[in-house]
Amino acid sequence: MKIVFATNNKHKLDEVKKIMAGHIKIVSLEEIGCHDDIPETANTLEGNALLKASYIKEKFGLDCFADDTGLEVETLHNAPGVYSARYAGETHDSEANMNKLLSELQGKDNRRARFRTVITLIIGNETKFFEGIVNGFIDTVKKGKTGFGYDPIFIPEGYTQSFAELGDTIKNKISHRAKAINKLNDFLSTLNA
Ligand code: IMP
Repeated sequence: MKIVFATNNKHKLDEVKKIMAGHIKIVSLEEIGCHDDIPETANTLEGNALLKASYIKEKFGLDCFADDTGLEVETLHNAPGVYSARYAGETHDSEANMNKLLSELQGKDNRRARFRTVITLIIGNETKFFEGIVNGFIDTVKKGKTGFGYDPIFIPEGYTQSFAELGDTIKNKISHRAKAINKLNDFLSTLNA
């Protein structure tokens, strides 16, 4: 089975290809010749994932899925959430985003946070949503070199190292995206059976 993953983020594409290895052929936007800046103007993760998947389905007529992820920080009433990419401005600068979050949390005892991913799949005439959550904490400093985004400051529950220190192999087993992708995988496998 071939399916388009509506993302331009190479890190996410690699993560998803590793998680779904052997099951389903993932086709990137580049491979279908889509270089459009797909709008992400909704104010929820579900809304944005649906916008992206619908765009590809309508323009290219291909089955596809799209994801949207937010870092939800408890003491900040789940901010930055759907605005995680542009928390510190429209440049989508991960360093600036992390610095802003670290400064917002300065002196705060409650550092609980979670990554939440929503995947929207549009296959045939059917639309399905899959959610994945990883709970954890925001560290006080950045640590580690792998991954992307907020990985250097996010410590998943049950671990003492950040996602960026734990590396891709562990992250891909426990992450928000892995959990959502595994649910998607299970669903697609039932179609294949
Ligand atoms: P997106 O909309 O799924 O691309 O995610 C929005 C933003 O959340 C990204 O630009 C990153 O800053 C952050 N983000 C998403 N997934 C991850 C992750 O796995 N690790 C760290 N940050 C992430």
